[in-house]
Amino acid sequence: MANQLQESGVTGSVSSRAEGKALWGGRFEGALDPRVFRFNQSIQVDSRLWLADLRGTLAHARQLCELGVLSREDFGRLESCLLNWIESAQKGELHPFFSQSRFFEFEDIHSLLETALVEALGDVGKRVHTGRSRNDQVATAFRLSLMDEVKSLKAGLLQVLDTLIVLAETRGSAILPGYTHLQRGQPVLFGHWALAYVEMFQRDFERLDTLSPRLRQMPLGSAALAGSPYAIDREAVARELGFLGICRNSLDAESDRDFCIEIASFSAIGMMHLSRLAEDLILYCSKEFGFFTLGASVSTGSSLMPQKKNPDVPELIRGKSGPVFGQLQSLLVMCKGLPLAYNKDLQEDKSATFGALDTFRECLEVMSVFLSNLEVNGEQMRSAAETGFLNATDLADYLVGLGVPFRDSHDFAGKLVRLAMDRGCELGGLKLQDFQGVCPLVAADVYEALTLEASVGRKKTLGSTNPERVKSALSEARERFIRMKTE
Ligand code: ARG
Repeated sequence: MANQLQESGVTGSVSSRAEGKALWGGRFEGALDPRVFRFNQSIQVDSRLWLADLRGTLAHARQLCELGVLSREDFGRLESCLLNWIESAQKGELHPFFSQSRFFEFEDIHSLLETALVEALGDVGKRVHTGRSRNDQVATAFRLSLMDEVKSLKAGLLQVLDTLIVLAETRGSAILPGYTHLQRGQPVLFGHWALAYVEMFQRDFERLDTLSPRLRQMPLGSAALAGSPYAIDREAVARELGFLGICRNSLDAESDRDFCIEIASFSAIGMMHLSRLAEDLILYCSKEFGFFTLGASVSTGSSLMPQKKNPDVPELIRGKSGPVFGQLQSLLVMCKGLPLAYNKDLQEDKSATFGALDTFRECLEVMSVFLSNLEVNGEQMRSAAETGFLNATDLADYLVGLGVPFRDSHDFAGKLVRLAMDRGCELGGLKLQDFQGVCPLVAADVYEALTLEASVGRKKTLGSTNPERVKSALSEARERFIRMKTE
């Protein structure tokens, strides 16, 4: 960056302020120290607000025309210029300034835009900022651009959800151990496991919907902090830009960054979910578990150990959750001591917010690629579920069915586990006399009660791993998914 700035001539005593490119040069004498210029600069991060700033500027200019600040003719020229740039930006073609070294002479994207307008249209460009401050301009462009970003996050969530639902639909009837404390607990259906993550990501999706109405409030028209002396119809501007309403108080409008904190929080919670899924995947891909085989296109090898196939993708997802939690923390700390209204601290909002959501979006994308390349080893899952006494609770419940109080049946089942351990077998390997030695009521049907199918089938409650329940949970999840997608 320093090199680029040097090449562009932003060194020594030269400054964009001295050259008239800054938006605030009038009351200053002499040049801005280049180190301070660079320190103050945000264009590297906020250039991605270009499209949003063009749209915000057009809506503001329309009001200036209504109010007679811009003549119809001037507005017409301005409108066609802005629409032209908007159309190009939508195709990914940016203004020529973006590829020129002078790009680095601008303090921020708003300075670049104003210079671009002045160079293209002369005085008309100089009138555009009437009744507006960068404070409401930046907050508006930032919210507008996040309103778009939110759509792509929804798409990312839907992709992961779809992959998980397909896994449940295709391999859902396999049975694997369910764990507590990472110790084998009770058998569950693989579909039940996948649907647990579906729940998490569907909650994330809902969270986006609930934060959206607060994000979609427009600050424009609050000017620097006190409001604008031009009778801008803020409601009309908000409608034109797709906001739901306007920020009600000009001081709050300039300095409110709750929407950043909410998006970072949403991203952090989503990353926590991805990270938990990643942890299960890493464990289950290990030889010790062997429930999944890593797809060749989504795993990496070792430079030294020829046999290795590593789950780098979920490990990186787990690792990248930390910085996202940090970005949420940064935003909270950034805001906590700020007096009203705008303070330059707030310029740090973009790197933290975009950083959090970019990481989340990328992790969602690679997680769905990773999941769709996963081979599910039903046999391995089953044999793990068949060992380690996962049916001990089923035995206790079988005894309850014979009239034994649960506390006693728990004790009897525990004794039988002990006996089986001594014999080096599972509960199903004990003889009928062994069962009857502990509890004389046990009959031959105990063996059927101890199977994996009986264990999952015995569960009755809504939300349980009973195959019928899982089947309906799956079709409900699929229906919710379709609704989310078509909304
Ligand atoms: N680049 C600045 C930001 O992102 C623009 C706002 C500057 N406002 C000001 N009063 N200096 O926050």
